[in-house]
Amino acid sequence: MLSDVDSYLMENEDEGTRLELKTDPENVRKQAAWCGVGPGLRVLDAGCGTGKTSQLLYDMVGPHGEVVGIDLSEKRIAHAREHYRSRGLSFEVCDLTGPLPLSQIGTFDVIWVRFVLEYFRRESPSIVKNLSEALSPGGYLCLIDLDHNCLNHYDLPPEMEATLVKLMKATEELDFDPYCGRKLYSYLYDLGLHDISMDLMAHHLIYGKLTDVDAFNWAKKLLVTGKRAESVFGQYPGGFKSFFSDFQAFFAGPRRFTYTPLIMCKGRTAS
Ligand SMILES: C[S@@+](CC[C@H](N)C(=O)[O-])C[C@H]1O[C@@H](n2cnc3c(N)ncnc32)[C@H](O)[C@@H]1O
Repeated sequence: MLSDVDSYLMENEDEGTRLELKTDPENVRKQAAWCGVGPGLRVLDAGCGTGKTSQLLYDMVGPHGEVVGIDLSEKRIAHAREHYRSRGLSFEVCDLTGPLPLSQIGTFDVIWVRFVLEYFRRESPSIVKNLSEALSPGGYLCLIDLDHNCLNHYDLPPEMEATLVKLMKATEELDFDPYCGRKLYSYLYDLGLHDISMDLMAHHLIYGKLTDVDAFNWAKKLLVTGKRAESVFGQYPGGFKSFFSDFQAFFAGPRRFTYTPLIMCKGRTAS
């Protein structure tokens, strides 16, 4: 059994706060509507984090629907149970890299997996397969993730750009997948799901004045991943500390443009 501390690249004491802050309800609702989340459905929020997305999904299915949020982190599941309480909303600690406890959680009309597969460059196909076994007949598996993650900034000085590319390469060794989004279609195709459809929207679209939420989110991303891959900064003048402050200065500048494509993919089992 995995422990959250060993296995999740972004694990740190502020991860719950980062997830709560960066989750934009309007975007979640838009994505969930595209996934077909609606009144009366039974939905699995796989890798639910602190439960904020699960509550938003529940608001779209309740009061006659149901949402089950599952996550490996005991701390985030405890937070979810304390902060998001509704009759049809429940949370379980569960490791997505193994078979799901179907006798405990049941089967689902919609399985929603957002910003989770990117942490499993190697295991994603088997995780998706395990999840598909929890679909009710005709149920939809909905995969939502980022592509070319953290790599789209202009006008980053060449030395910083090269170091950032090296950092993202190093995260691949840690099982992270900066190119997760482009692979989602093939996962569903390989499972033989029906009526597969795709959509694309901007996740980060950052220009002009930097918001506090983006500043916090990106500082955390860099601090946590940078600490796990410190050797990458060996050739950068001043090492990680200088890179971090140079990136902060670049990112705070209103001329900077940063974006990340979010890819959504859904397919259903036979009815
Ligand atoms: C970036 S968060 C995504 C949270 C939420 N889905 C969202 O859209 O904001 C990734 C979540 O995956 C969870 N996770 C990582 N490894 C896991 C595993 N093996 N089994 C279940 N959850 C896992 C982490 O604990 C974390 O809460």
